[in-house]
Amino acid sequence: MSRRSLSFRRGTGTADLLTRFRRPLVDARIRKYNVFPRPQIRKESQGYVGEMRLETVFTAADIQAAVARLAREIERDYRDKNPILLGVLKGCFVFMADLVRALNMPVEIEFISLSSYGPRRTQSTGRIEVVQGLRKPVRARHVLVVEDIIDTGVTLDFTLHYLRRRRPASVRVCALFDKTSRRKVPVSADYVGLTVPDCFLVGYGLDFDERFRHLPGLYCLKEDD
Ligand code: PRP
Repeated sequence: MSRRSLSFRRGTGTADLLTRFRRPLVDARIRKYNVFPRPQIRKESQGYVGEMRLETVFTAADIQAAVARLAREIERDYRDKNPILLGVLKGCFVFMADLVRALNMPVEIEFISLSSYGPRRTQSTGRIEVVQGLRKPVRARHVLVVEDIIDTGVTLDFTLHYLRRRRPASVRVCALFDKTSRRKVPVSADYVGLTVPDCFLVGYGLDFDERFRHLPGLYCLKEDD
């Protein structure tokens, strides 16, 4: 959890959501309503988690269709280029796993890990540091950045600068989810899966306080009315 989550708490005026979410009582409700763990995820779209509910934005089928489409577009452009697919951890891990299995072509897979730092970890002032950088040179290689979501664009902007200093043959971006309405830095993806609304999203790799990454669909996390 991260930059996105902190912004969510400020943006909705619910600064204590995280505290409430961690209460033991809430965990008991999670068990009672079968929202967790994995074997009960099929009805999570109607599920209440504490005082929040998950509303379906895209089903697992919607997402898998988008992944398949992206794979066909990438195959068309990268066949015979032996690209490096570079995932930005952690959120990308589910998408990366599905995408590479949908591709009918050889690729190499690398990851970098980034985090925000500074006295206020915000998106607008967001400064980013590299927790784990590239383990191999990308010079003269075709690199495709794989992101689960572009939100403000701060992370992608940083990633692109980080990569271009290393002189790859080309850099493009594949983002499964694009929250265009929240952009603060003018970056865009070359391959976009699904445009998403401006709400706090969880599932398919995206988390709230490290929860919900495992859910197969994409959900808007809302407070109960
Ligand atoms: C998410 C996502 C992107 C980033 C996009 O990562 O994986 O990397 O936010 O947001 P931005 O466009 O506003 O920069 P997050 O910071 O939530 O960390 P995580 O991947 O470890 O969950």
